[in-house]
Amino acid sequence: MIEPLKDSFGRVHDYIRISVTDRCNLRCVYCMPEEGMEFQPHDQIMSYEEIAAILRVLAPMGISKVRLTGGEPLVRKDLENLVRMIASIEGIQDISLTTNGIMLPSKARLLKEAGLTRINISLDSLHEERYARITRGGHVSKVLEGIEAAYEAGLDPIKLNMVLMKGFNEDEIRDFIAMTLDRPLHVRFIEYMPIGQASDAWRDSYLPLSRVSEVCQEAGWSIQEEQGPSGNGPSRNMKVVGATGTFGLIHPVSDHFCDSCNRLRLTADGHIKACLYWSDEFNVRRVIDDHQAVANLFRKALGAKPLNHEMALALEKKAQSHTPTVRRMSQIGG
Ligand code: GTP
Ligand code: 5AD
Ligand code: SF4
Repeated sequence: MIEPLKDSFGRVHDYIRISVTDRCNLRCVYCMPEEGMEFQPHDQIMSYEEIAAILRVLAPMGISKVRLTGGEPLVRKDLENLVRMIASIEGIQDISLTTNGIMLPSKARLLKEAGLTRINISLDSLHEERYARITRGGHVSKVLEGIEAAYEAGLDPIKLNMVLMKGFNEDEIRDFIAMTLDRPLHVRFIEYMPIGQASDAWRDSYLPLSRVSEVCQEAGWSIQEEQGPSGNGPSRNMKVVGATGTFGLIHPVSDHFCDSCNRLRLTADGHIKACLYWSDEFNVRRVIDDHQAVANLFRKALGAKPLNHEMALALEKKAQSHTPTVRRMSQIGG
């Protein structure tokens, strides 16, 4: 094998998050502005062949875990074809998807058959009206059908991502944990993060995850730390004693997990991002026909990767050549 992908702090990278589109069939309040986004033209978006070609270079360098994100990845036509192409690359062991779940009823089985290993579904409220407000028009019943379809297709584990918003859905923490008591579901509570030009209003909505343990205490639930379902991300997992499923905490704001970062990102238009918060980008599409140049560009991106969020933000403030990340969450894929 070729020298593994290491950054200048010695962190080995074996996981890549690939955004396959910046388009979405929803407009969640924490992700997109109310008026929506101007989407990138189709010819600027990487083809499935290009994505697979990049992964064929990265797999021998130690990338074995791939997550497909968006926007909403399932609005991209026949995504299962990309999954099949990735599954055939030697060295790729885990292919996962982060989706809003709306299109899963017609897609779950096709994805599983194509080689998708597991799935994470965004669900911020179980109340129809609230869900519609968060997503600006989505129907929660569709997501619940999607979860069912994922389960029936045999995708395992199924994780639900709930972004906590103060005064908005915090009263549902208990209902979400209750879903894990007798079902193999894995709920992850996520702190609201300020990303790109997302509105400064995030501070008003931010809720630290310490609220989750208070809710467990109020409910009289005993909690135990849990290895949790397989995963490559930053979630710290636990479960109610005796429960079938688990719940996890993802706290990018109150407690950084950057020390153990193992992730690279690729935007839908073919730019490598070594850190979610770092505006430095490297256009890999420009050199796609030259495998050595692709490998070199990934190493270069990693060489410039900051140690943590604070360093990324401070460096950006200091260096005139940098502007803080301008991409919105929907253009990076979380
Ligand atoms: P697994 O653990 O492999 O299941 O996936 P994951 O948790 O990495 O993926 P998912 O797409 O479900 O992301 C869950 C949340 O974690 C999202 O809000 C992401 O934005 C956030 N997240 C994932 N990686 C990072 C990271 O490197 N930095 C920050 N700040 N947030 C991240
Ligand atoms: N803060 C925290 N999580 C976010 N996500 C999208 N925007 C934000 C934000 N500002 C989550 C989505 C999805 C995952 C990819 O990232 O809910 O589950
Ligand atoms: Fe779409 Fe996901 Fe952004 Fe919601 S969070 S608007 S589902 S990309």
